[in-house]
Amino acid sequence: MSRLESAIRRLEAQRDCINWAAGRVAGKTGHILELGLGNGRTWDHLRETFPDREIYVFDRQVAAHPDCVPDDNHMFLGDITETLPRALARLGRNAILAHSDIGTGDSARNQKLAAMITPLLAPLMLPGGVVLSDQPLPLAEWTELSPPPPIQPGRYHIYSA
Ligand SMILES: C[S@@+](CC[C@H](N)C(=O)[O-])C[C@H]1O[C@@H](n2cnc3c(N)ncnc32)[C@H](O)[C@@H]1O
Repeated sequence: MSRLESAIRRLEAQRDCINWAAGRVAGKTGHILELGLGNGRTWDHLRETFPDREIYVFDRQVAAHPDCVPDDNHMFLGDITETLPRALARLGRNAILAHSDIGTGDSARNQKLAAMITPLLAPLMLPGGVVLSDQPLPLAEWTELSPPPPIQPGRYHIYSA
């Protein structure tokens, strides 16, 4: 598969997983965590999909499209291994959905970071909350769910907290 095709499938998977999660968390209270602001593309889709929810964003920097920059009150700036514990102290266990997109082309680095953030993210998630991730985030207390069709297994990862 060409890299273009792979990038398209990744973006489609992000959109489809977020749309699927909207149905799954409908009627449940809780805010949303976006791990990896990047360009702000998925954050923009989250705020369009969940206009009535608080969305808190994590990144070490703000380098997003100017229309896609969260306000300071919703932005945790710094290394995510340091800001997730800060978020727990400030927000408590109140997230119904988390979307994590912090991978790079370096799979060893991705695995190491995923192993570090999973136990830091877990205490922020409400029971029954949904975690969407570009990387596997295995945790004994979470149940991995199949991604909605037509997303191929392994393309994106979904967990029920
Ligand atoms: C692939 S981009 C996110 C793309 C974004 N979801 C979008 O749709 O535009 C990954 C982001 O994760 C951030 N990131 C990676 N590792 C991080 C870490 N350890 N702490 C904080 N941010 C990190 C990078 O700065 C980058 O902005």
